[in-house]
Amino acid sequence: MEYSIKVSNLVKKYGSFIAVDGISFEVKKGEIFGFLGPNGAGKTTTVHTLTTIIEKTSGDAFVAGYDVSKYKEQVRDRIGIVFQDPSLDDRLTGYENLDFHAMVYGLAKGEREERISELLDMVELKDKANLLISKYSGGMRRRLEIARGLLNRPEVLFLDEPTIGLDVQTRRHILDYVKSLKEKYNMTVLITTHYIEEADYICDRVAIIDKGKIVVCDTPKNLKKGLEGDVIIAKLHNKDNAMKLANKINKEHIAKSTKISNNILYTYVKDASSILPKFMNIASKEGISIENIEMRNPSLEDVFIHYTGKSIRDEEGSGNESMREIVMRRMR
Ligand SMILES: Nc1ncnc2c1ncn2[C@@H]1O[C@H](COP(=O)(O)OP(=O)(O)O)[C@@H](O)[C@H]1O
Ligand SMILES: [Mg+2]
Repeated sequence: MEYSIKVSNLVKKYGSFIAVDGISFEVKKGEIFGFLGPNGAGKTTTVHTLTTIIEKTSGDAFVAGYDVSKYKEQVRDRIGIVFQDPSLDDRLTGYENLDFHAMVYGLAKGEREERISELLDMVELKDKANLLISKYSGGMRRRLEIARGLLNRPEVLFLDEPTIGLDVQTRRHILDYVKSLKEKYNMTVLITTHYIEEADYICDRVAIIDKGKIVVCDTPKNLKKGLEGDVIIAKLHNKDNAMKLANKINKEHIAKSTKISNNILYTYVKDASSILPKFMNIASKEGISIENIEMRNPSLEDVFIHYTGKSIRDEEGSGNESMREIVMRRMR
């Protein structure tokens, strides 16, 4: 089996803080591999160690067959990267941004022209080539950054939250490009995201990462199947009620597990239709009224909640972003 990325026991510490806590995974050639996790999970730190931007603390990491600590140049020649934070020069046109980058790779003029033209075509920005980046929309910038990441025809492409902040339609558009790269060039892609439906849509395999650790890793289909059953999702008036009901459910042993996100109770069961009447019974006995109830085969979101004990959205939004996170972002 040919692996494009092979990581074992990777650790990255910042002082005494452990940002990446001993992760291991392998990505096969031509695979789209997703890192799904909330803000601060360690996704960007992992990408930065694999792309030789920062040095790992310990563990082993190979990209395109090369040790990322020992053979930085060889790794850099074989990868493309799209950073989480915008990194185009606003004062240059789209074409100039790509041309400047291609020069850094040491491509001759003719070759640069040819590749840039091909890539601009691919991301549908040919007619915007001579427009200043300051006039580009968010989606256009992202597409140009992807084109830039492909200038050296990389074996492995790293995309760090490539669709963050874009509208749903543009996001889908970008994901479809990424899929086409896999289909056309058998490119290996490592993509990070905190959009669950995105991971579900695009990834061959997904690693759920939380607090620097990979909690579980498999195909989206197997992850859902792995829960072996259904999930009952009950919306209560408040979190206290959700906790109270969860306690009772657990005491009655009718569920495999229960998880709470705000005022929503997720009850993982073998077979929802046979458990639901008992569930309703317990709620009514306790005098807990249910605002809304739904049962379904597990979605990837239910999988995420099952393994991390929280909804990915619980930690989203600037309101919940820790001071530490904000300071770090400004420093970078
Ligand atoms: N240069 C740094 N110094 C100290 N802490 C850092 C640094 N970069 C990231 N961190 C911390 O490491 C953790 C993981 O960050 P990051 O990899 O950016 O997460 P993600 O990309 O999943 O949101 C966060 O708690 C973040 O604050
Ligand atoms: Mg990040």
